[in-house]
Amino acid sequence: MPVVDLHCHILPGIDDGSKSWEASLKLARAAVADGVTHALCTPHTLNGRYTNHKQDVIKLTEELQHRIDQAGIPLTVFPGHEVRLSGGLTEGLDNDDILFCDEDGHYMLLELPSNEVPHYTKNMVYKLTRRGITPIIVHPERNSEILANPQKLQEFLEMGVLAQITASSYTGLFGKEIEDCSREFIKVGQCAFFASDAHDLPRREYQMHAALDKLAKEFGEDKKKEYLSNAQKVINGEPVHLDWQPLKKRKYICCANCKNKLNTYHNIW
Ligand SMILES: [Fe+2]
Repeated sequence: MPVVDLHCHILPGIDDGSKSWEASLKLARAAVADGVTHALCTPHTLNGRYTNHKQDVIKLTEELQHRIDQAGIPLTVFPGHEVRLSGGLTEGLDNDDILFCDEDGHYMLLELPSNEVPHYTKNMVYKLTRRGITPIIVHPERNSEILANPQKLQEFLEMGVLAQITASSYTGLFGKEIEDCSREFIKVGQCAFFASDAHDLPRREYQMHAALDKLAKEFGEDKKKEYLSNAQKVINGEPVHLDWQPLKKRKYICCANCKNKLNTYHNIW
């Protein structure tokens, strides 16, 4: 079954991902070694630091495919964007300067700032869905406001967004809290698929195989097939249906170590 990675920073020199063609080829080899057959190249755009124009990303992706083919690496790459929620997003869409996950523009990777869910997020999600775009919120488990209050994601799922969990979040690379949060989203069906979000950086490597294996162990082979199938559907622009449930309210308990510090609480899933 094809393994589609819908989020990675493999294009060289245009964001905080690969710095060179050599690094891009190294990442391509790592992707294949991890079982990936198709990769959407998704450099950051509109995040205040990087704006990558659509035509530049397309050209660079074509060049990468050429070099991948010459190196005999069995990987197919497509151009995409990881689009930061920002005031410039509407203008970027109006100017046809945004790349989607699929050719017909049904799905778009939407990145929130890492430390908050801005108050205008709902408004932007509404505007995107009115345009026929399904935003895919990338790594909600790594957003500190959502991590502190995971029910927050539901407001957006109710509006029709999808959510992508980073494979290495679920394997535990970012710590237990993010791993546990990922598992909770998976358990209640709020995540549609994994992606690598690979960068050429320490601790940002491919972990798709490990995450998918862990998923099969914890939730069964059918769940793994569903995730693989959902990623394929997204890149093909086909509908993805999520049968998700609301998260139960977290329980807060005070542990023995801090019984005298009444304001210190620990989250228990
Ligand atoms: Fe990313």
